[in-house]
Amino acid sequence: MCGIVGFAGKTDAVSVLLDGLEKLEYRGYDSAGVAVVSQDGRLQIKKSKGRLAVLREQLSKSEPIEGNIGISHTRWATHGEPNDINAHPHTGENGKIAVVHNGIIENYLEIKQFLINEGVTFYSDTDTEVIAQLLDYYYKQNSDITECVYKVLNRIRGAYALGIICSDCPDKLIAARKDAPLLIGYGENSNFIASDVTALLAYTRTVSYMDDNEVAVITPDSVTVYDADKNVIEKEKHTVEWDVSAAEKGGYRHFMLKEITEQPEAIAKTVNPRMKDGRICFEELAENPDFLKDVSKIYIIACGSAYHVGMVGKYTLEKLLKIPTEACLASEFRYCDPLVDENTLAIVISQSGETLDSMAAMREAKKRGAKVISLVNVIGSSIARESDIVLYTWAGPEIAVATTKAYSTQLVLLTMFAVYYSDILGIITESEYVSFMRELELLPSKVSEILKDTEKYQEAAARFFNHDSVFFIGRNLDYALGLEGSLKLKEISYIHSESYAAGELKHGTISLIEPGTLVVSLATYAPLIEKTASNVVEVQSRGAEVLTIATQSNAEKLKTKKENSFTVPDTDPLLQPNLGVIPLQLFAYYVALNRGCDIDKPRNLAKSVTVE
Ligand code: F6R
Repeated sequence: MCGIVGFAGKTDAVSVLLDGLEKLEYRGYDSAGVAVVSQDGRLQIKKSKGRLAVLREQLSKSEPIEGNIGISHTRWATHGEPNDINAHPHTGENGKIAVVHNGIIENYLEIKQFLINEGVTFYSDTDTEVIAQLLDYYYKQNSDITECVYKVLNRIRGAYALGIICSDCPDKLIAARKDAPLLIGYGENSNFIASDVTALLAYTRTVSYMDDNEVAVITPDSVTVYDADKNVIEKEKHTVEWDVSAAEKGGYRHFMLKEITEQPEAIAKTVNPRMKDGRICFEELAENPDFLKDVSKIYIIACGSAYHVGMVGKYTLEKLLKIPTEACLASEFRYCDPLVDENTLAIVISQSGETLDSMAAMREAKKRGAKVISLVNVIGSSIARESDIVLYTWAGPEIAVATTKAYSTQLVLLTMFAVYYSDILGIITESEYVSFMRELELLPSKVSEILKDTEKYQEAAARFFNHDSVFFIGRNLDYALGLEGSLKLKEISYIHSESYAAGELKHGTISLIEPGTLVVSLATYAPLIEKTASNVVEVQSRGAEVLTIATQSNAEKLKTKKENSFTVPDTDPLLQPNLGVIPLQLFAYYVALNRGCDIDKPRNLAKSVTVE
């Protein structure tokens, strides 16, 4: 989704801004732009449709734009098609103020009409231009730019992260936030704003996270943050541990492949700090012993792949806790009038911690009395800060749009939580616990074992990449896993695919199976292998090509061609999805590679979905 980088320093702003935007390219965008104020008070803007390379080329071909204060943006179109005019930054009529904006202004039409009645002429279709023009309108009446920002904020409704510069203030950058991520970076003789910390890693590791309704006035030497009532507030500073190389490709062809390969290490980072003397230890929960008391219902709330983790969690938590558990799509949960009370536990899962639907659903659950635990990767993100307890996945930055290592770490973390809680409730037996812990320790090495031999997935991908429709089938945990396999494939290869509970096939979908149809059968969930095996026979007898992913001990129960059958090591049944997902990720990756797709930045998708 849209990215913002702002700089207030004593050196060239454009290079810092472009460099920062480059680090945000992974989020998905369709146009980019930059604005700087020169020392002699000229506002200069360059923006263009397309990738950052196009903007760079334009900048190199025209008069250089120079200044030490600037804002920049990568846009993912919501209001108005992607083109040069709709790209940010936007300005008001007198060309003194420039604005970049992430989010959506809900009442922009009403304000636009007001300004048109006042004689303002609009040039773009965006909601953001309304902010720039309204600022301009107030600035004509009162040339205190910070005051004008407050006036605008009091008038707009919706979500925003804003970066604002004004040619009359050549040393000042203003930032504001509501329901869209924005952080401040503190450097030497320079300060920054960014929508995502990866944009700043090369410059600073000291950041603070802006909260809703805050306004920051930033110069090269100072940062002053105000609340909605213009009181100065002290912001807590955090040190970002992620290193720069973690956000770079490091010789891999794609971030996605790098991140798939990083999974053993990412899982170890999630698991190891929480294993103490053979027990699972969540310090965050141990400090609040009453937090998990009297829970009578659990909602797992998330979007996309994180929701698929929730689907696995539904089976795991119900089995281990005997508490009714529902996995809910955040976008549905927030509007479904959910039955939540103070004995409800809401578990919100999010890599970015900024997904708007997940955040809104979390707020809804909280408002209705639920206790909220979040499983989040990005430290200090909004969901992390607003939940009662946050369990971080510590997977490091995930850059590819399609999640892999974040999914795996969410999965293992949720499973660990289920086992931990089951132990508190006295449900899991000691021998089950000990056997789980043994396998948990071995998990990274078992993932590595699968990753050692990627050739067979490349070969399978070469055989199947031309298919235009693929079905995934499985039961119980394998059904939940199939949902993720199907999403991975469709989002990066653009092949239509669906995932079904295997037993459901004959209630309709089987009519789509014809000679040559590819069916991916997941058979890692031991208790239901025989059932899945008969579903495989059903589709095979209708001519389907079946590709299976099974545990080593179950592989021979499925009668599939040798070259179409992949095995994963056996482990504790609760951890089996953590192994089963690896072949699915690799298969999707190599299929997309064969099809020549833009794997790290699939069309129309964004890494962090901060609009509804
Ligand atoms: C798919 C994918 C998305 C995200 C979803 C939630 O590969 O990455 O489906 O899982 O948009 O994002 P987060 O986890 O950031 O809330």
